[in-house]
Amino acid sequence: MNAPHTEEFLTLQELVAAARRNLPPGPWGYLIGGAETETTARRNRLALDSIAFRPRVLRDVSRIDNSASFLGRRVRLPVFLAPIGGLESIVPGGAAEAARGAAAFGVPQMLSSVCQPGLEATAAAADTVRCYQLYVRGDDAWVDDHVRRACDNGYAAFCLTVDVAMYSRRERDMVGRFIKPWRATAPAGSSFQSALSWDQVKRFKDKHGLPLIIKGIATAEDAEIAVQHGVEVIYVSNHGGRQLDHGLGSAAVLPQVVAAVAGRAEVWVDGSFMRGTDVVKAVALGASAVGLGRLPCFGLAAAGAAGLGRTLEILEEEVRVCLGLLGVTSLAGLTPQYLAAAPPTQLPGALSAFPLLGD
Ligand SMILES: Cc1cc2nc3c(=O)[nH]c(=O)nc-3n(C[C@H](O)[C@H](O)[C@H](O)COP(=O)(O)O)c2cc1C
Repeated sequence: MNAPHTEEFLTLQELVAAARRNLPPGPWGYLIGGAETETTARRNRLALDSIAFRPRVLRDVSRIDNSASFLGRRVRLPVFLAPIGGLESIVPGGAAEAARGAAAFGVPQMLSSVCQPGLEATAAAADTVRCYQLYVRGDDAWVDDHVRRACDNGYAAFCLTVDVAMYSRRERDMVGRFIKPWRATAPAGSSFQSALSWDQVKRFKDKHGLPLIIKGIATAEDAEIAVQHGVEVIYVSNHGGRQLDHGLGSAAVLPQVVAAVAGRAEVWVDGSFMRGTDVVKAVALGASAVGLGRLPCFGLAAAGAAGLGRTLEILEEEVRVCLGLLGVTSLAGLTPQYLAAAPPTQLPGALSAFPLLGD
């Protein structure tokens, strides 16, 4: 990996450019791609680009606190690493390297169940707040075994991803003949994934004390059902546009979910959150944490754990600049009053948050 010292990266755009240089076409396409026409993926970006700010001025913003609460713990920014399968194809060391970068900076990591080096070794690699995300590809005993191992290894919460009932068609991977072991055919146990229902959520809540996150909520109706099941975190996501095509952008869905949940659970969100301004918009709309999917991968591919750390540093600086210019000194001060609908100024795309790069 031919990366400069990470302090030489002054902007996120440079980190993304370095990631694109370092990754072979297969893993690059796997990382940035979405399902079918990639309309959902573009709408994630479009939804964020369709929100403008309403800044307030002449307020003392000489001291800004951008820390946040995450499952009752204090973290440096209201962000976490979203679960990414196959991180080992993005950076040597895979999830362990990501854990080191997250821990050094001070944000949580959500580990994917289809990622190396696995639950135990990733926990051992670095001490950061961590959650475990499972694709249900086995019976109840199989799920319970993963819950026990997550508890034994200090994971603070358990996440079920529920927007994967069918095996989606990722055409960049198909056209490029990029075959990951878990994408070659429908994975073993995928029938469990298709058969998943609220019964398993009820069973989980009846049996386990570990906080439960449901990832892949895209409507107020399902948010309400999740709350009624006692789910602690409603995670608004469309899988980065990698599952159902022609969905709404996450930032467009977020307000209806926040309204439906009405403070009875935490609401997290992901979907093309690439900039500090994006994170601020999510918090102003009522999310308590923002999942970063591809962005940390760009940092990791650019320069490993140090590159991830530099990515998060620049993101933090962007958050601070945004808060100060909005006239807000802490995240708790953000409300929808700071936002307004506005037409986007550019076409959305996988890299459109980094306009100096092209798409
Ligand atoms: C390469 C890649 C692999 C992913 N693997 C998983 C996974 O194993 N489990 C999961 O729940 N979501 C997975 N996702 C979805 C992310 O957790 C997250 O929802 C999405 O990437 C957020 O959008 P963003 O990448 O635009 O930030 C993956 C996304 C990408 C880009």
